Amino acid sequence: MSEPASRARHVAIIMDGNGRWAKKRHLPRAMGHKRGVEAVRRLVKAAREMGLEALTLYAFSTENWRRPEAEISALMGLLKAFILADLEEFAANNVRLKIIGDYHAFPDDVVKLIDGALARTAANTGATLVVALNYGSQDEIARAAAKAAAKGVVTIESITAELDTAGLPPLDLLIRTSGEVRLSNFLLWQAAYAEMLFVDTLWPDFTPEHLQAALDDFAKRERRYGGR
Ligand code: FPP
Repeated sequence: MSEPASRARHVAIIMDGNGRWAKKRHLPRAMGHKRGVEAVRRLVKAAREMGLEALTLYAFSTENWRRPEAEISALMGLLKAFILADLEEFAANNVRLKIIGDYHAFPDDVVKLIDGALARTAANTGATLVVALNYGSQDEIARAAAKAAAKGVVTIESITAELDTAGLPPLDLLIRTSGEVRLSNFLLWQAAYAEMLFVDTLWPDFTPEHLQAALDDFAKRERRYGGR
């Protein structure tokens, strides 16, 4: 059976609202991030089951270094725990892990874990889980343009081929949770023709049902890519 043309292949999510989720409950911010990771876990499984080819999650931006040290180290700890707990499940389900952004700025133990996870899943051919770590889109575009220039050809295609997202399906749908309506330096180039969906739900409350509703909504939209 052929799939409808409007079926999304690549969805990206700006997972916002962990702090507000915790604040509403008089809990520490780190607890919001912890519940955020649980949401990540549910969504990765759901995305795979829904047949998405790529799910890109904004986990740590180049601007997040401005947060208090304790919060940064809580996020690093959660990332480590996530990899340690879920790597075998990715491997078993043919999920490939990919990182965009320069994660080498992270602590050595985190870098080692990530490198191990990348190697362990590199040959997988199912869905790709893309985690944006120390990622900033303007930085990515500048790096890609410099690489294209060094090779002597600066075109839309040559820059696209040097982006961290090279090789992934084109971005279809970009979702941001928690009611903020901005891109925050995420996938600016890739979002040129993506559909956007901004929802009020705080990230820890985002469920597979929300994702399914977003995909259903996407399937109904008419994408014209500037044509008529
Ligand atoms: C935004 O909430 C969320 C983040 C800056 C971090 C997102 C990270 C995770 C969900 C956990 C780590 C990810 C993985 C893939 C294991 P916020 O703190 O900006 O919320 P607020 O705007 O309500 O304060």
